[in-house]
Amino acid sequence: MSASVKVVVTGAAGQIAYSLIPRLVNGRTFGDKKVDLVLVEIPQVVDKLKGLIMELEDSYFPNMGNITYTDNFDEAASDGDWFLLVGSIPRGIVFNGKKIEERSDLLSINGGIFVDQGQAIGKHGKDDAKILVVGNPANTNAFIGKNAANKDSQLWMAMTMLDSNRAKSIISKKTNKNISDIKNMIIWGNHSPTMYPDAENTIISGELGNSVINDMNWIESNFIPTVQQRGKAVIDARGASSATSAAKAAIDTIIACESPTESGECFSAAVASDGSYNVPEGLICGFPLITQKDGTVDIKRDIVLSDFGKTKIKISIDELLAEKEAVKHLMK
Ligand code: NAD
Ligand code: LMR
Repeated sequence: MSASVKVVVTGAAGQIAYSLIPRLVNGRTFGDKKVDLVLVEIPQVVDKLKGLIMELEDSYFPNMGNITYTDNFDEAASDGDWFLLVGSIPRGIVFNGKKIEERSDLLSINGGIFVDQGQAIGKHGKDDAKILVVGNPANTNAFIGKNAANKDSQLWMAMTMLDSNRAKSIISKKTNKNISDIKNMIIWGNHSPTMYPDAENTIISGELGNSVINDMNWIESNFIPTVQQRGKAVIDARGASSATSAAKAAIDTIIACESPTESGECFSAAVASDGSYNVPEGLICGFPLITQKDGTVDIKRDIVLSDFGKTKIKISIDELLAEKEAVKHLMK
């Protein structure tokens, strides 16, 4: 085994975490690195993590390093390389007597979590730590966390890989191609019903999606709304928010960041805008990303957007700006 990596997971007793955590130590996500895990939960359920740790030990994962659990995030954050911030309340449950259905409800309930966690990551995490926010509303939670961390050398991301995977699956059915033939499925904007899954710029068997699909009506009235509403459709069907697909998408994001991106390709996550594609600086927005050979993650800047695409992205940016306004009391 060559090196080790320390991974901090919040919401570790939740649904997504149960699918996610075993995959972190299976020898594929981080290659042959030894994986030290710190599992974090709220005080009310933190002791349940004893059971999860028993199961992990019983599974005998050769790459598993030290594994600890805590309800103290400051302690957990010390020297963390990766932070998977899953812990937060999902839609579809009853919270304080009210059924949580809207993202705006989540904004007020979950936003505060990311102030304290962001500060701790900035203070105690590694200078080059990578942070993936899964808990919703993911983009604005990441915005809050990044602001509180106040350390530009750390990479804050919000997860849009699940939307990208969903979009690939739909396009694979439409075009009768393998999912592995579909690359560069970019999700622009917010992880919300305003997101813009970019079928025009996806690459299908080496060709631009636009020319292979050649059906703007299907893209506009079928493909885009289906991807945008898939989270809700799963909640309605399952009675709970998507979990195993979300865990797989988190693993896909880690893998995409851990090794250089193939030439010409990109992957999807939301990161702080540097003004690329006219997205206001600082907003955590879904972009096409590439991992460089030195491990840094950059925005891919050579995507050509149609007027249709630009209009769709603007809708999502406006939503992100409104969310930013709604959480301004949480900014330092
Ligand atoms: P869950 O309710 O099963 O688990 C969430 C866990 O987080 C709970 O065990 C809870 O105790 C814990 N938690 C709450 N506050 C915490 C805190 N401050 N510190 C540590 N732990 C805390 O929910 P889930 O199904 O695992 O979903 C988690 C989140 O992920 C939700 O917000 C959901 O909407 C979101 N989600 C995002 C995506 C995406 O693509 N970005 C996809 C699916 C779900
Ligand atoms: C999803 O996309 O499945 C999650 O973000 C859950 C949700 O609330 O939509």
